[in-house]
Amino acid sequence: MIGPLSALASRSLFAFDPETAHGLSIRALKSGVMPACRLGEDARLVQTVAGIRFPNPVGLAAGYDKNAEVPDAMLKLGFGFTEVGTLTPRPQAGNDKPRIFRLVEDRAVINRLGFNNEGHDAALGRLSARAGRPGIVGVNIGANKDAADRVADYVAGIRRFYAVASYFTVNISSPNTPGLRDLQARESLGALLGAVLASRAEEAVRHGRSVPVFLKIAPDLTDEGLDDIAAEALAHPLDGLIVSNTTLSRDGLRDRETAKQAGGMSGAPLMAPSTRVLARMRKRVGPGLPIIGVGGVGSAADAMEKICAGADLVQLYSCMVYEGPSLASTIVKGLSALLDRDGISSIRELRDTRLSHWL
Ligand SMILES: Cc1cc2nc3c(=O)[nH]c(=O)nc-3n(C[C@H](O)[C@H](O)[C@H](O)COP(=O)(O)O)c2cc1C
Repeated sequence: MIGPLSALASRSLFAFDPETAHGLSIRALKSGVMPACRLGEDARLVQTVAGIRFPNPVGLAAGYDKNAEVPDAMLKLGFGFTEVGTLTPRPQAGNDKPRIFRLVEDRAVINRLGFNNEGHDAALGRLSARAGRPGIVGVNIGANKDAADRVADYVAGIRRFYAVASYFTVNISSPNTPGLRDLQARESLGALLGAVLASRAEEAVRHGRSVPVFLKIAPDLTDEGLDDIAAEALAHPLDGLIVSNTTLSRDGLRDRETAKQAGGMSGAPLMAPSTRVLARMRKRVGPGLPIIGVGGVGSAADAMEKICAGADLVQLYSCMVYEGPSLASTIVKGLSALLDRDGISSIRELRDTRLSHWL
């Protein structure tokens, strides 16, 4: 039973500041006190995307399990896949605290963590210890704040985690590392993708297996910015896009005081803007390139809407802060119920059906 009990536990975490609450939730998951949900597989929700068989389309977004401490616990909660990181080669402390803020009325979060993480070695140790276990665990890679050569940091991530990653996410869209999002500009992106995908090709030969690489982008891009990313995504053997990271926008927030905090905003108010960017990207890249839709997913209806707007899969983080750890299983069950209601035999049939609405 992870429903009411976990919701209660989750609300009691609100007594703590957000970062302490996050640490306590990771400790609870590590200790195994959280009972597993018994979610049977629904064949209508199973899809093969980028060569990987996903048991359901609902994933945990990067940033919750930055150091790969609880991937199996998250999968047990009902997520069809989980993503660890962002991981940088060397450990780094991130920005000064406080650096995570809840906007309860808005069901939103603002964070300016700045890639705090224990670095490649610590996470690699944990992922190696679970090697061979089932479950899709993506590795989200980034660059140290003081990296002399940012591209080299991403290439190091590919090489280090190649044996243990189900897929990679190249994160160039955090607003909290100064200059990082400049990598989204056409020329820098071309050079980054060239180097990352060349290292993937070499590792694929060595390991006899090609690990998919996704690129995670910001929601705050102009039409020209989206054009450039789409062109580079199609010019390289990239496996897909993740749309999107947190936003710099504060539009529509009721808690105007907390809204003044610097950082990236996520949660319910990001649902519509990130879905619009997803649809604009789907239009640009065509039907063939996988896209994972992220931003504000808090219900089965939201997950379905992302898929109808062009997503193959979805991920979530912030709404789990408000709804508790049973959110993934609630959404997966809700998706099955929506397919029952509409007599749909595969979730795939729904992709792009509301693309024009979102454009
Ligand atoms: C506290 C916090 C930390 C995050 N850290 C990362 C990160 O390290 N790497 C990354 O790619 N995205 C990170 N994100 C962004 C999420 O993965 C996601 O793209 C974004 O929050 C939108 O989804 P949501 O509205 O479901 O939270 C973070 C988000 C939050 C709230």
